[in-house]
Amino acid sequence: MAETNVGVLFVCLGNICRSPLAEGVFRALVRQAGVEHRFVIDSAGTADYHIGELPDPRTREVARSRGIELTSRARQVERADLDRFDYLLVMDSQNLRDVLRLARGTEVRAEIRRLREFDPENGGDLDVPDPYYGGRSGFELVHDIVERSCRALLDHITLHRLR
Ligand code: 4NP
Repeated sequence: MAETNVGVLFVCLGNICRSPLAEGVFRALVRQAGVEHRFVIDSAGTADYHIGELPDPRTREVARSRGIELTSRARQVERADLDRFDYLLVMDSQNLRDVLRLARGTEVRAEIRRLREFDPENGGDLDVPDPYYGGRSGFELVHDIVERSCRALLDHITLHRLR
């Protein structure tokens, strides 16, 4: 039987801090696991503020210090994405509300989840905090959260979808 690809879309507000980082981290993990050919990976923002921009320099700098180059360009999430992807991982509760509003109560293909549901150290907090208005330590923290969550997400998808 032909193997099908798994589509994974990460969504935050601006698509310049959290979701492009999750895209890059998840892509690196998938590559390390040797299953790159099984995935379509992308990220998008609920807002249109930063369309076309590279990720925030602070996000890129922390990622680069950990061996990951981020080169995506920001785009806005659209209704069609909800049927294009198998998994849609949002960063916080506001993103979740905005994405569900986009669905307008209609059926969608994507399983819509908060990325931090997969963080084994979430302590009950399911939001990846928005680092935009904070300092460098916030970006380091977000990187740690995203990396832990993406590892567990890949384990989950490997178990449920990659046979
Ligand atoms: P992101 O962070 O949603 O993780 O990309 C933000 C980026 C930009 C803004 C807010 C959050 N902003 O207000 O422009």
